[in-house]
Amino acid sequence: MSDEYILTRIDGRVGVAQINRPKALNALNVDVMRELMSALEQFDDDEAIGCLVITGNERAFAAGADIKAMAEATPVSMLNSSMIDQWDRLQKITKPVIAAVSGFALGGGCELAMACDMIVASESAQFGQPEINLGVMPGAGGTQRMTRAVGKALAMEIVLNGRFLSAHEAQQYGLVNRVVPVELYLEEAIKLAQSIAERAPVAIRLAKEAVNAAFETNLQSGLGLERRLFYMLFATADQKEGMDAFINKRPPAWQGQ
Ligand code: CAA
Repeated sequence: MSDEYILTRIDGRVGVAQINRPKALNALNVDVMRELMSALEQFDDDEAIGCLVITGNERAFAAGADIKAMAEATPVSMLNSSMIDQWDRLQKITKPVIAAVSGFALGGGCELAMACDMIVASESAQFGQPEINLGVMPGAGGTQRMTRAVGKALAMEIVLNGRFLSAHEAQQYGLVNRVVPVELYLEEAIKLAQSIAERAPVAIRLAKEAVNAAFETNLQSGLGLERRLFYMLFATADQKEGMDAFINKRPPAWQGQ
């Protein structure tokens, strides 16, 4: 496939991947997801990049998995298409990923945003899991990540009754980091990404791993992992640099080593 569904650019130390299927409100078919994940993996492999941003356009981040592509599907065709497996590739990205969301983030689009590490939303963003209206249910993490983010009571309403969350509601419930005017959401997401990308890369990578582990482990195991990663960072040149820079009142120069 060509890169027609995903536009990429590099802004300083930030890699931006834009979903580009506006006529279908960025509906996510297998090709869109494969191209998106390949773009993110390339950014992840590039040492000049420290943080990633996924975005759509003002009207839609993504209005879900492609309903037209799924309408005649069978369980076996879904299994063989590896469609939902594409979302899993995001979990293997080692650098922080920020979703810059405007307009519709529905179904698989909401699940994609929630699989990122942070969400910057425009005031027009709407988050929802309306699969129930299609006679199905979320299949790419909606029941799990939404519930962990907003709690059981509200997650039930969103998943069982197709309730949408406005951007401000999503912020109130802890799903998104910040809400900004529509004309600023991408700029704000890139600014946040740039700020993270300027920090010590190895520490950023391990800190992301530790925070994500909080959703996978019990407290004791999570604390143990955190401590081991913390100790490990004392083997990096960046730890010596960061602490020396603090003591000598100068800005640190990170090596990523
Ligand atoms: N899949 C395929 N095409 C989609 C789509 C989707 N998820 N969402 C929108 N489109 C298409 C529409 O079919 C339409 O195309 P045509 O012009 O060719 O008919 C175009 O995008 C514009 O959409 P609308 O005319 O419907 O725009 P609207 O402003 O009237 O409504 C909307 C916007 C409320 C988002 C509406 O499009 C909608 O409800 N979309 C579906 C949302 C949804 O149910 N998402 C869940 C999908 S299932 C899923 O994601 C499973 C999973 O967990 C992985």
